[in-house]
Amino acid sequence: MAQLWGGRFTKETDAQVYAFNASIDFDKRLYRQDIEGSIAHATMLGRQGILTEEETQKILDGLRGIREDIERGKIVIDSRYEDIHSFVEANLIDRIGDAGKKLHTGRSRNDQVALDMRLYTREQILAVDALLKELLQVILQTMEENLETYMPGFTHLQKAQPITLAHHYGAYFEMFKRDRQRMKDIYERMNYCPLGAGALAGTTYPLDRELTAQLLDFYGPTLNSMDSVSDRDYLIEFLAALSTVMMHLSRFSEEIIIWNSNEYQFVEIDDAYSTGSSIMPQKKNPDIAELVRGKTGRVYGALMSLLTTMKGIPLAYNKDMQEDKEMAFDAMDTVKDCITLFTGMLATMKFRTDRMAKSAMNGFTNATDAADYLVGKGVPFRDAHGIIGRLVLYCIEQNTSIDALSLEQLQSISDRFEADIYDAISLKTCVEKRLTIGAPGPDAMRKVIALHKAYLVR
Ligand code: ARG
Repeated sequence: MAQLWGGRFTKETDAQVYAFNASIDFDKRLYRQDIEGSIAHATMLGRQGILTEEETQKILDGLRGIREDIERGKIVIDSRYEDIHSFVEANLIDRIGDAGKKLHTGRSRNDQVALDMRLYTREQILAVDALLKELLQVILQTMEENLETYMPGFTHLQKAQPITLAHHYGAYFEMFKRDRQRMKDIYERMNYCPLGAGALAGTTYPLDRELTAQLLDFYGPTLNSMDSVSDRDYLIEFLAALSTVMMHLSRFSEEIIIWNSNEYQFVEIDDAYSTGSSIMPQKKNPDIAELVRGKTGRVYGALMSLLTTMKGIPLAYNKDMQEDKEMAFDAMDTVKDCITLFTGMLATMKFRTDRMAKSAMNGFTNATDAADYLVGKGVPFRDAHGIIGRLVLYCIEQNTSIDALSLEQLQSISDRFEADIYDAISLKTCVEKRLTIGAPGPDAMRKVIALHKAYLVR
């Protein structure tokens, strides 16, 4: 057992207590951030004359040496230490002797861990954002290639009106674009440095908090030392944004699972992204989409866990906050894996455009357009709606579709039908005429795609 605080104790910590209390097994992934923070702290202590130049140099060399040795596998972060902060400090003292004991001047593990977690989260926000950008690029490419790939649009999972594949994908483009905007918002709000808050009440040393903030690329120091050590809002916000990403991925996965089913056969997931059955030789299952849908639960779990952990904690730091890490790390890893795999699955998925178009043609997806046709012939919309309703009923009885009826049959229901009805309700017309911005008409979509392209080169 190696801990930083034996002085006021007369007994060894109980071994089970030590293990229960320790966080090294999961906070060791913060070693880079911990060392980076210590380098900034020591640099600042040196500039302020709190450490001599020689002490500062020794500490900086020592910290960089530890980082190198960890990265080369020369030292292993092991469970003899309570946490990553103890590990780095103990190693530093072993390495450079007494100067190492001065690193923690004017600092507490409370502001140290607050800093480490912020630095880590900040990197993760950028990493998730970069992965989302790649996903958007794949989505946009499919949009550009499928401006005239017709498919049914659904409401209530019932065929509603015809759309295009580009339009359907465009909806997901909007969702993941908003997810990126959320990443940016969180980054802007969280990018302030808690270092220098001390245990809770700052310190009497003349620390230069502006300098450490600047060295670590923060916009500036946080402004209340109690809040600095006990704020985990940024992590909750990030987990909420990650949960929203998962919700979007999960909806998309659900659609792909449906499209990939034997009944639909709109898509075929690539062999590299499918799995088989141990018993049924014919099976090719959409496991990746199912797993992405399934893993959504654990990411929501991380959000609920941290919200609940934080809700009863009095100011300032309490050990409960150590529970901010394991599930948050798991959520970050999970979301990054899910976006990566999902992007690969999308990029390799094939579309059965013939089946999609055929599906768009039946199920009366042109009923609205037939009603609009009658409106064009002077029938008030409500009456037109009623006429087409009766027409649909007639078609169901005759087991046919509106466009397959003869003009005589159509005219037996309304004398306003003329020969131009067939063109007015063809699949092509139904889609092409939808030209309000945001609608599936290819000319409208081209304008939107141009905006998306400009957005993605930024
Ligand atoms: N392992 C602790 C955490 O993750 C570090 C901070 C410990 N501070 C303390 N006062 N015991 O929160």
